[in-house]
Amino acid sequence: MVNNLKSATAVQLFHWELAHPIIVSSSPLSAHKQAINNLFSVGAAAVVTKTITPYPDARSGGCLRHGELFFNRDGYSNRSVSKWEEDLEALRGQKVIANIFAETPDELSILARQVVARGVEIIELGLSCPTAGKDPVCCYPSQLSEFCQAVRKAVDVPILVKLLLQTSAERNREMASMVKNAKCEGISLSDTLPAIILKANGSMALGGPGGLSGAALKPLVLKGLYDVADLDLVVLGIGGIKEAQDVVDYIRMGATAVQICTTLMVDGIQKLGSLVQNLTALVGQTQINLEM
Ligand SMILES: Cc1cc2nc3c(=O)[nH]c(=O)nc-3n(C[C@H](O)[C@H](O)[C@H](O)COP(=O)(O)O)c2cc1C
Repeated sequence: MVNNLKSATAVQLFHWELAHPIIVSSSPLSAHKQAINNLFSVGAAAVVTKTITPYPDARSGGCLRHGELFFNRDGYSNRSVSKWEEDLEALRGQKVIANIFAETPDELSILARQVVARGVEIIELGLSCPTAGKDPVCCYPSQLSEFCQAVRKAVDVPILVKLLLQTSAERNREMASMVKNAKCEGISLSDTLPAIILKANGSMALGGPGGLSGAALKPLVLKGLYDVADLDLVVLGIGGIKEAQDVVDYIRMGATAVQICTTLMVDGIQKLGSLVQNLTALVGQTQINLEM
């Protein structure tokens, strides 16, 4: 494919031209307007909001480092929809993707209309959270289909559906097919993976099951992208990105762009600048075409 974009690292995500493919994922790093502006100031190509819901979640079960791994029991955003409406209005015109979740397809459709009315140009459905005490919606194909179809009818902006990676190729393909059949444009793979960390005394770290992120996820998610490669969906790869080479690996496996979280939580958001610089150098040296 000919790269008509303005720089070697630029990629096209729907109608957006991104200066490079590194997007900050839904997380505490994107919990409100100021935090999102901070991410733009260190060079984020786009930012996905913390998951917005009609039932703000005061629960923050915390996070911990466990060797190379990162473990959390964080809930959804603790900001009300009306506070988010103010934030999104103030961010209008910037490349902000709203990650949204509600318990029913009707409620999610209403929320989708609310964020689009505040200028949001791309939505990500947060149907993948493994830390809410039960399997997320994406694990139930018929429910996944209902949620996607309802939001598709409600808004006409591009819809990404965030999924939880499965170890079965068939399950990954089934989830992605539901998204495609509902005429949503793409998937974001993956959310954190459900896990338990035991302390030396046998009790569960942070008090129970949570979500695992960081370096260990990358080879697993690459396999998930491979599983769905022929389905002709826009794919955002998420999990364990630390270095420029990780970004290139995801693009080579079919991702249009990537999302990152843990590496910025552990090393600080300033790391984004050097990651972008290193990616620019790597693309220059190897003449990789990011627009695959
Ligand atoms: C503390 C923490 C909170 C998170 N909160 C959300 C969230 O609200 N919504 C969501 O879709 N993903 C959430 N995630 C998942 C990340 O967006 C991302 O999918 C995951 O961490 C894998 O990427 P990474 O290995 O680069 O961190 C959270 C991750 C962490 C570590």
